[in-house]
Amino acid sequence: MTLPMVEPREGLPDRVRIYEVGPRDGLQNESAIVPVDAKAAFVRRLLAAGLPVVEATSFVHPRWVPQLADAEELMTSLGEVGRDCPVLVPNERGLDRALELGVRHVAIFGSATETFAQRNLNRSLDEQFAMFEPTVRRARDAGLDVRAYVSMCFGDPWEGPVPVAQVVDVGKRLFDLGASQLSLGDTIGVGTAGHVRSLLAAFTAAGMTTDQLAMHFHDTYGQALANALTALEGGVTTFDASAGGLGGCPYAKSATGNLATEDLVWLLTGLGIEHGVDLAALVDTSVWMAGVLGRPSPSAVVRALRDGPGGPSSGTTLGTGAAESPA
Ligand code: HMG
Ligand code: MG
Repeated sequence: MTLPMVEPREGLPDRVRIYEVGPRDGLQNESAIVPVDAKAAFVRRLLAAGLPVVEATSFVHPRWVPQLADAEELMTSLGEVGRDCPVLVPNERGLDRALELGVRHVAIFGSATETFAQRNLNRSLDEQFAMFEPTVRRARDAGLDVRAYVSMCFGDPWEGPVPVAQVVDVGKRLFDLGASQLSLGDTIGVGTAGHVRSLLAAFTAAGMTTDQLAMHFHDTYGQALANALTALEGGVTTFDASAGGLGGCPYAKSATGNLATEDLVWLLTGLGIEHGVDLAALVDTSVWMAGVLGRPSPSAVVRALRDGPGGPSSGTTLGTGAAESPA
């Protein structure tokens, strides 16, 4: 397996935690419904490839996201391994379902905009807090870890640009409900590097630290990797990514795939930043999942490693300076 030449850069973190969202964000937007056995194999293979966190599924209303209607079956099939995989819960009903299966990590997901709150949660911007508050309180009382997402941080397909102050206000309110981390979602992938920098500056000015923040980039406009590098420069050390670049949100038109985990791993490896992921095993997993879905992976790194010199199909390696073993 070919890897990039390693050239560290001053001022970047030594280690990054990749929060894998492929089985949840990746599969929730597929037109095909993936069989539960394949989903379980996907989660297991991602864990085996060294991903430290794999978000498995959502306990949302099955009519709203039929692709993930098998959440109970999946978590039962994963057994003990699944208990450490976070799941989305929008409300107390979702939390009850997760608690019944012994899940230890849940994530709520709020919206920075009024329109997306209504479209994604059937609640107004204010009403979403009333839904999340008892959900987080009960999750914490039960000893669970809670992550909070805030969507539409960089732009909204209905409302256009979203003021930074509004994102910070909603994000802080969600985090202050009792979350351990706030993931800032560029749901429709419109953000650019300067915007990432100003949003991070606004959150830190509001008292949040970079280790409380994660970045969740979708790659609709091809900016995800540039935005991730900008956030790395800002000191962020948790990045959401999706194996093979799968992903999207069924309730946000123009939301496409997430930042591909392979593309992020390639960048981090080249910068000498530890991530713990075996890129070859990850690429194999994404190539396999692309076969299950019946369409090629959107990740540039998956395509290059599968087809290019040094890729699994050619049996050769790139010469000069390329490291030959996984990081
Ligand atoms: P609602 O229709 O307003 O629900 O949906 P309700 O509270 O009025 O309840 C109606 C019925 O649904 C009741 O049943 C409830 O029990 C049942 P009845 O009494 O009529 O028989 N119900 C449920 N059943 C199973 N599981 C549940 C549940 N909740 C209620 N959890 C709701 C409100 C929030 C449930 C709905 O809007 C929903 O499920 N939305 C989820 C949408 C979604 O999953 N979107 C994708 C994830 S977000 C995302 O992708 C963005 C992210 O990646 C970050 C980024 O990119 O920005 C995270
Ligand atoms: Mg997303």
